[in-house]
Amino acid sequence: MKNPDELVCLCFKVSQRKLINHMRVHQPKVASQLSDCGGAGTGCGWCVPYLDRLFQDADNGSTPDDSLADLPELIPEDYATQRQAYLKAGKKR
Ligand code: FES
Repeated sequence: MKNPDELVCLCFKVSQRKLINHMRVHQPKVASQLSDCGGAGTGCGWCVPYLDRLFQDADNGSTPDDSLADLPELIPEDYATQRQAYLKAGKKR
């Protein structure tokens, strides 16, 4: 996602910017601790792989601008559409 204000967790409306700021302030030890940021990842589960990716990128020292930017499915409309398909398929990827 090129725009950090785009939502990563659609269930709880948590943006990439919010997640990155949360990691900077709270320095979570594992990706699952990102759920402390507005409940990210605790709804349908769609965003969990992206939360993992964000966490790993931050852990590897990538800049926030690099995070998720190169994932083609993260064009916001596609991301939302793919989430709908995921939900329709019974939360199977
Ligand atoms: S999109 Fe994050 S839990 Fe559903």
